[in-house]
Amino acid sequence: MFRLASGLLMAAVGAALVVATGVPARAASADPTFKPRFGFGRIATPQEIAGWDIDVRPDGHGVKKGRGTVEQGQAIYDAKCASCHGTFGESNNYMMIAGGVSPKDLETGRASALLRPDGVRTVGTKLNHASTLWDYINRAMPWTAPQSLTVDEVYAVTAYVLHLNDIVPADFELSDRNLLTVKMPNRNGMTAEHGMGSVRGRPDVNGSACMTNCRTQVAVTSELPTYAMNAHGNLAQQVRAIGPVAGVDTTRFDVALASLRAPEGVRVAANAMPSVQDLMNRQACVACHAVDKDVVGPSFDAIRLRYEKKPDAETYLADRIRQGGAGQWGQVAMPAQQSLSDAELRTLARWILRRTTD
Ligand code: HEC
Ligand code: HEC
Repeated sequence: MFRLASGLLMAAVGAALVVATGVPARAASADPTFKPRFGFGRIATPQEIAGWDIDVRPDGHGVKKGRGTVEQGQAIYDAKCASCHGTFGESNNYMMIAGGVSPKDLETGRASALLRPDGVRTVGTKLNHASTLWDYINRAMPWTAPQSLTVDEVYAVTAYVLHLNDIVPADFELSDRNLLTVKMPNRNGMTAEHGMGSVRGRPDVNGSACMTNCRTQVAVTSELPTYAMNAHGNLAQQVRAIGPVAGVDTTRFDVALASLRAPEGVRVAANAMPSVQDLMNRQACVACHAVDKDVVGPSFDAIRLRYEKKPDAETYLADRIRQGGAGQWGQVAMPAQQSLSDAELRTLARWILRRTTD
């Protein structure tokens, strides 16, 4: 529940930031006599503001021209999203993003799952507007490479997530023309009464708060697959020292540490070839592969033994690393690596086959 809420909370915080930076600049352009209040800093330029001002709102603010079909979205989703959210959005490990919508909800506009304490909370049941889903995917996903999707890709993958939630049919095309008119299952579920009860006219929680034998510690946790844990560096070092939010030290998760540390063989060999080590660390290959033992994926030794004598092995492996997928060694799939260049893919394949980069 906490995990489910926090993703969208982040989106809301992002929007607030835009307002905060946007206000002085707008005041400045309207009023040439505007002076910074404390005599330091400078007014943000329109270009700088545009870099932050990416929110897309239900009132049409920020909607970008573009389009994408459910079918196109499926290809993007399978390559870039399914490894965390599950093939059908069902993954409860790293946040479920589909499920809980009933056909009746689409008529009433009130997601029935939200009326039950144990009902499924997903973007399908929680959101009142499809534009919020578009905005969130556009700003924050995929987790490992936020803002790497094109506008049309965001339309397509949003259409597919809507389809996984039974909100739009398989032949649907989402675009700037219909983004604001998609009928969400909980479109009538929005309320401005944020308190759960009222104390002399002021909202307050009014409920079954624990009074005896209560837990003394509550941990709000979040999970990521190990290979993605450190994708944005050590979060603890990126949070200001003041304020209530302490960043988690992402280098100190036990599991993360165990698998993020490059295996011995990779480090030694890679000293001579830093580009292979850099690539392996950057793409987190070493979270799933070691040189001489199977981890999540087969050991690099085993892969070499299987392919070193085959003609075209280098091309084949480069292609497999790019495409990802399962079936050669077992049922577990390797994530696709679409951000690597041909040269990088070949360097990796060559190193796996010959432990050399030339
Ligand atoms: C490496 C794992 C990972 C990948 C890959 C990934 N996500 Fe996510 N996604 C997450 C995590 C973790 C969260 C929760 C973030 C938070 O709460 O701050 C999340 C949250 C979301 C949410 C919000 C859910 C909610 O209820 O608030 C949506 C929608 C979403 N992802 C869609 C996508 C799409 C679409 C893609 C592919 C383009 C994608 N994700 C790829 C890990 C991932
Ligand atoms: C999330 C875990 C994971 C990550 C990250 C990962 N792999 Fe894999 N890899 C696997 C699995 C699982 C397999 C076995 C797939 C199969 O059975 O076809 C595999 C298979 C392979 C193969 C053999 C393919 C074949 O057809 O036999 C190569 C080569 C490979 N990985 C290299 C890499 C490289 C290089 C990287 C980083 C760019 C990487 N992997 C990242 C899990 C991963």
